[in-house]
Amino acid sequence: MLDFHRADLARLAARDRLRVLAPMAGKDFASNDYLGLASHPRLAAAIAEAVGQGVPVGSGGSRLLRGNHPEHEALEAEAAAFFGAEASLYFSSGYTANVAILATLPQRGDLIVHDALVHASMHEGMRLSRAQSVAAAHNDPGAVAQAIRAWRDGGGKGTPWIAVESLYSMDGDTAPLADLYAVAEQHDAMLIVDEAHAPASSERAARVWQRPASGSSPSIPAARRWGAKARWSRGRPSSATIWSIAGGGSSSRPRPRR
Ligand SMILES: Cc1ncc(COP(=O)(O)O)c(C=O)c1O
Repeated sequence: MLDFHRADLARLAARDRLRVLAPMAGKDFASNDYLGLASHPRLAAAIAEAVGQGVPVGSGGSRLLRGNHPEHEALEAEAAAFFGAEASLYFSSGYTANVAILATLPQRGDLIVHDALVHASMHEGMRLSRAQSVAAAHNDPGAVAQAIRAWRDGGGKGTPWIAVESLYSMDGDTAPLADLYAVAEQHDAMLIVDEAHAPASSERAARVWQRPASGSSPSIPAARRWGAKARWSRGRPSSATIWSIAGGGSSSRPRPRR
């Protein structure tokens, strides 16, 4: 078994494709720490102060058991207010947020139409989802609408979901969010926007993000709804937008498995 993996690594090395972990060095053109928060003295001081006052350094368990702390809830309430959302739910990484959203919210009988260039974590979520998924050409709202129409024509009765990023980090282009939102409204679809790179990285993207479509404010399904899945899945959810904002931990981007 291990020989198989060793041979695999040797094959990658022979093709100059073997990746290794290296210590951080030189100027940072690669991380997602756009605002330098990872080493900001005010954050470090706030953490030290909180720990000094007895805030635990680990959750000790799942939040559904004994791992939920008033600090978590205060942070989520503050984030919801800051982002102008109904509610927010924190995950330990953007990767897990995307996996959780796509694996749990779309139901059997739904359709996920995703932009061809969404991050690998969205692909992982779709692999776990009971909904079927289909790719639409990059940044092409017409292709998204067409995919939904074709699915309806083929008898699709569930809820369509549209999964995109607002700012694509590999090419630096932004999604036509207003048009995508219009498609979502027209087809009673849910729009999921992965904001891993947008809020902190450019003023333009931040403006797009604050005003997603025709001046309407985004709505995030309340965290409570995660616990009320039956109510959620019985009726058809109304058109809404879910914003997934990654924490910016990893600097590399795994290739999606197709
Ligand atoms: C678009 C996108 N979504 C999600 C993620 C995952 O975020 P995290 O590194 O916080 O797990 C990344 C990471 O680079 C990303 O680029």
